[in-house]
Amino acid sequence: MTTGTGLPRLEGRDKVTGAARYAYEYPVDGVLYVWPVGASVASGTVTNVDGSAALADPAVVAVLDHTNAPRLHPAVIADQLVLQSATVAYRGQVVAGVVATTPEAAREGAEQVLVRYAEHPHKVMLDPDDPDLELPETTNAGFPGTSVKGDVDAALDAADVVVDRVYTTPPEHNNPMETVATIAQWDGDRLLVHDSNQGPAAVATAYGMLWDIPHEQVEVVTEHVGGGFGSKVWPSPASVLTTVAARVTGRPCKLMLSRQQMFTMVPGRTATRSRIRLGARRDGTLTAIDHDALQYTSVIHEFVEQTGSATRTMYAADNLRVRHRLARLNLPTPRVMRAPGKTPGMFALESAIDELAYALDLDPLALRMANEPATEPATGQPFDGRHLVECLTTGAERFGWADRDPTPGVRRHGRALFGTGLASSMYPVYQSGSTATARAEPDGTFGVSVAAVDIGTGARTALWQLAADACGVPTDRVTIHIGRASYGPAALAGGSSGTASWGGAVRKACTELCERIAEHGGAVPADGLEVTANTDADQPAADRARHSYGAHFCAVRVDADTGQVRVDRLLGVFAHGRPVNARTAHSQLLGAMVMGVSMALHEQTVVDPGLGLFVNHDLAQYHVATNADIRGLEAHSLEWADDDITLAGGKGIGELGIVGAGAAVANAVYHATGVRVRDLPITLEKIRRAG
Ligand code: MOS
Repeated sequence: MTTGTGLPRLEGRDKVTGAARYAYEYPVDGVLYVWPVGASVASGTVTNVDGSAALADPAVVAVLDHTNAPRLHPAVIADQLVLQSATVAYRGQVVAGVVATTPEAAREGAEQVLVRYAEHPHKVMLDPDDPDLELPETTNAGFPGTSVKGDVDAALDAADVVVDRVYTTPPEHNNPMETVATIAQWDGDRLLVHDSNQGPAAVATAYGMLWDIPHEQVEVVTEHVGGGFGSKVWPSPASVLTTVAARVTGRPCKLMLSRQQMFTMVPGRTATRSRIRLGARRDGTLTAIDHDALQYTSVIHEFVEQTGSATRTMYAADNLRVRHRLARLNLPTPRVMRAPGKTPGMFALESAIDELAYALDLDPLALRMANEPATEPATGQPFDGRHLVECLTTGAERFGWADRDPTPGVRRHGRALFGTGLASSMYPVYQSGSTATARAEPDGTFGVSVAAVDIGTGARTALWQLAADACGVPTDRVTIHIGRASYGPAALAGGSSGTASWGGAVRKACTELCERIAEHGGAVPADGLEVTANTDADQPAADRARHSYGAHFCAVRVDADTGQVRVDRLLGVFAHGRPVNARTAHSQLLGAMVMGVSMALHEQTVVDPGLGLFVNHDLAQYHVATNADIRGLEAHSLEWADDDITLAGGKGIGELGIVGAGAAVANAVYHATGVRVRDLPITLEKIRRAG
């Protein structure tokens, strides 16, 4: 058995030596290059596209716009319907595309395309007093837009202590190292796409819908991906443009987005505003929890961040209300970014719990443990494993929480103020049906294929281990094939569900294959044996609350003069069940915690209200945490808990480590300085202004 051990990544050597081939790097004869043109107004109508200057360059093959592009059919996101109308919904929306024989000519041509607009007024700022706010029925991932248990207002009126605060998070953008890249080739009505994405099967489905062809006629090849975080779940409008360009020119076309284009042509996370009201008795018993969440979507597509969804699972209170409101703004449709909803929502809730602990003069650890629910608060469903209390107590012991003096702003050495804080984490357990094929050869080797994708998580290695274990052979007798839509319907690398979903199908195919081999008396016939299995019918009933939980403990030092925050230590303890690969699982937790520190201290896309522009659209001005920002980082797992929750074993791991990390940092900053920052990121001026 290799499951649970830490085998090195299968493709690790290829990646560090440059041998691994990413989407843009496939050699294609006669390929053309695509450069999208983004709208330079935030709202309006395109009145004219003049491509004549661009077309004067003989290297430019075509200038595409809404007047000459082929018709597409509605797909998953309205943003994907490129060049289908003259309407501009946001700045940066693709309004034209230049196709040329070199990337330089395509880019230069795009600069020369003259687009004229009739400009309309735009709205780009999230405003709780916006008269046009909507009350969506459901949020992303299918949570109710509003859910109410008990009488929250009466309970708040009757509470001994009330915390009533607003917490905000800015728009944030996914910045995987590899930007979006696509090569599109048509052969009649068959489409071949080499593409960087989080699910080749899903991308094939999207292109099938957009082009109104059976998805079986679309092959998507996704061998290696340099990160996603949610940005590559569905095709970017720019990738769709590449298929349009290939269709129009009759030649293969390729594109790779610049870092700047990633801010408008790839989705990021909505800004959020959470008003949290907590009511409690003097002894620390929570009596009311109210989470009123506001977020935005675009004017062309409804995406509702599930900002309040974690609040539904966390703490016992007889009265619980979670409400989402939605603004329609002239910004690109926001979509998922690592732990959508949970990350901003838990920053709010876990900050508010810390504030309540101070209001009650209780230890924040004890306050959390005192409100541990017996069943899921919003649904009453039994938990399929929870272990939050064990995460809190284990973390407290490892971190050294017991001796903590809660007084804020008193631990000073020289210019440095020191403080500690904690916050809980949670993420749902998702899993969906997938298809895998296992093949046995007479020489004792096995080949297993599934339309999985490894976006850096270690999924390929984990699936290889699961296959070997299910076949009962050493890993060197198994070859794992992933990254092709034609391997069959399969889950996305999203919602921390990939390995569980693909792994379940791999296990099933391999197990059935072994049964077939046994039927043949243990000998594989000369032409081999092959089994294809699907797990659509093997999914658990939705009658239990299935989540992972964790706890973050953070130590910061804050420069009393400059307000600079350094995270000296971030320690997480997580209950996710048995990992398939302990090494890559640990790496996922660490990476997510780094992203949590990044959001706490740095990440913020600034919107210019006048221009409707994401101002800081590059890594020089949109800051992400780097090595220098990270000091003591520790992720621990409660490996004995919940080992058989999914078809692959333990629970998903990719997103758990980011949730709550921001609140742990903010709570530690308060403990260090006495300054409560309720608006991420925690920048120098917010601490200085308050101090
Ligand atoms: Mo992830 S945000 O579910 O791709």
